[in-house]
Amino acid sequence: MTRPDALPDALPDDEPESLERLTDRLRAYETAYRAGTPLVDDATFDALFERYQALADAAGLADDARLDARPGLEHAEGFETVAHRVPMLSLEKLSPSRKDDTGAPLSMRSQLESWVARRRKELDLLPLEQLELFVEPKIDGISVSLTYEAGRLVRAVTRGDGAEGDVITTQVRAARAVPESLVGVSAGVVELRGELYLPRSAFSAHNARLLARGERALANPRNGCAGLVKRKDTSGLAEVGIRCFLYQVAWAEGVSLPGRQRALLAWLEACGAETYLARTHVARDAEDAVSFCEAFDRARGELDYEIDGMVLKVDDLALAARLGATGHHPHWGVAYKFPPERRPTRLLGVTVQVGKSGKLTPVAELEPVALSGTVVSRASLHNFPELARKDVRVGDVVRVEKAGEIIPQVVDVVLSERPEGTSKVEWPTRCPACEGPVVAEEVFLYCTNPGCPAQVRERLVHFASRAAMAIDGLGEAVVDGLASELGVRTPDELYGLTEAALAKLPRLGEKSARNLVRAIDASRARGLAKVLVGLSVRHLGETMSDALASVFGSAEALLDFAARYVAGQPDALEAVAPAGARPGLVEGLGRKSADVIFGSLDAPAMRAVFAGLAARGVDLTARTVAVAVVEGVAGKTFVLTGTLPTLGRAEATARIKAAGGKVSGSVSKKTGYVVAGADAGSKLTDAQALGVTILDEDGLRELLGG
Ligand code: IVH
Repeated sequence: MTRPDALPDALPDDEPESLERLTDRLRAYETAYRAGTPLVDDATFDALFERYQALADAAGLADDARLDARPGLEHAEGFETVAHRVPMLSLEKLSPSRKDDTGAPLSMRSQLESWVARRRKELDLLPLEQLELFVEPKIDGISVSLTYEAGRLVRAVTRGDGAEGDVITTQVRAARAVPESLVGVSAGVVELRGELYLPRSAFSAHNARLLARGERALANPRNGCAGLVKRKDTSGLAEVGIRCFLYQVAWAEGVSLPGRQRALLAWLEACGAETYLARTHVARDAEDAVSFCEAFDRARGELDYEIDGMVLKVDDLALAARLGATGHHPHWGVAYKFPPERRPTRLLGVTVQVGKSGKLTPVAELEPVALSGTVVSRASLHNFPELARKDVRVGDVVRVEKAGEIIPQVVDVVLSERPEGTSKVEWPTRCPACEGPVVAEEVFLYCTNPGCPAQVRERLVHFASRAAMAIDGLGEAVVDGLASELGVRTPDELYGLTEAALAKLPRLGEKSARNLVRAIDASRARGLAKVLVGLSVRHLGETMSDALASVFGSAEALLDFAARYVAGQPDALEAVAPAGARPGLVEGLGRKSADVIFGSLDAPAMRAVFAGLAARGVDLTARTVAVAVVEGVAGKTFVLTGTLPTLGRAEATARIKAAGGKVSGSVSKKTGYVVAGADAGSKLTDAQALGVTILDEDGLRELLGG
């Protein structure tokens, strides 16, 4: 089932999407989902949520200030919650979009080979010793833990947050999704794990019944299944046809089990459970495993259920048990993600979007096409040289995909289908929003008119976003009103707004006007780093803003330096590009970025904004606490991922910074440490791949001196 795509009006500028906008989008999707009218499919929501987590990590957003995970998976009201005896972890992922250090794509085979090499090393295997991999489909369903005592089902529990889940025994029983008793097991206790799912055929039949009764249809099988197994009223559940694949024994007492994954699935089938057995393969090596996965991908459309990849597991369960785990995933298995779906469609035109720093991004306007669950009618073309390189012409048939990105991309042109009379895309010589002049810098074109209305709007929205001054209630619609009705152009003008003036805006009542004035007022105290982030200066993101604020301490000192740098004073220039190995002013600040940053800060228009902010009482001093340098921490970059047992993210960040360290949102070879807690994400995998030292909370505390 497909539904209209919920693409944002604006495609990304320097950063793909601000945390605030993403938060708003996710909230809207969640509200729609809860109302039973989802706007996007699961895969899209998941991709957005992953991106949200990354942005929230980068912004150091405290866990309790974050949105909850996907609706339908969190604890539901009125369900008994129990702790899992063995945590329900996730799987490490091999992904077709992964790149190496040079940006070149990493094949699935080479990713799997290095995963296997790590496992062989961990197990101390000799070169001739085989490590067979068991390959199973990975179904997109709802994970469930099932406890059987003396062969009888006593409890079914959702994954929940991995540590605790909700008891759904009544629902699972009513749905007749799993065996009530295990054939041939009359003693002992086993906890089995598997995936509840709604077959495509059952999904269509159920929807037909719902529609016939005048009720709303389910958006997709996965969410439908999640809703059904959380239903309090279980009448009619048996007719729906929910089923369950079992794939694991989490623990057992008094039950003897086979020693290989393949034999384990055969045992589960003999017990009366449904498993993937008929669609599995024992692979002798990475190449064999990848070929099986690729063949599976080609044939998966014929299955009666949706799968989102494969799972590769160490087949020998004794070896598997010897392998360790992180707080996020076990080492005995890994998920293999399929490449994203690609579809051809007609390019109807190319429009140009103006970003907050004036970047002009070509956007493909497409004949609507169904892609991974949504209907896509716009896609990014990245930049003009890329468009020329791909020889994209209006009228062409192009192939689009969603990849890991939320915003669809144009991959290439189907040249064999190029019709007569296609036209090349003209590069803009004037800004489409203000007719201002355009300059090229590297691969991008920029509108150079700082007064450009499109830029003004994007900049004000960015200034108010969470990553910057976090002004609640100042979203796109209000900004449009401020610009058109009240002539607001620059951030400092926000601080002169009165309730009376705001109340004149269409659709903004008295109460909202009062709240907005309060929110603007509260933002005065955010400090220099947040102001700098909010100014939409290229190369001046959160890390650099933090660094400049702590090095200079005040806007006055920073602007004074900027003027000396722009004037070419030797001491200022040398501070940025120091001779020899002496550390520079700020790590990561090279000449090129410095030219842009200090040049922009020293421009008369920007100085006027600073003066306006100061005059209206905005705090332009650094709020970072004095650094008490701790050896081993100072100068090192830390990346936080997952939930630490006791330290909140904001506190961990503050303590690292106070000890002279830095906190970054992404892992690279330069990362000093990755601090990983429960449910750590891809950053942990990246750290392992790059050989970066990984710490848990205790390790971090030790480094910080307790
Ligand atoms: S093995 C540590 N095998 O995928 C969890 N999981 O991303 C390892 N899943 O939570 C589970 N099919 O809900 C395994 N054949 C399969 C699976 C499978 C689907 C789900 C499961 C797990 C998630 C991991």
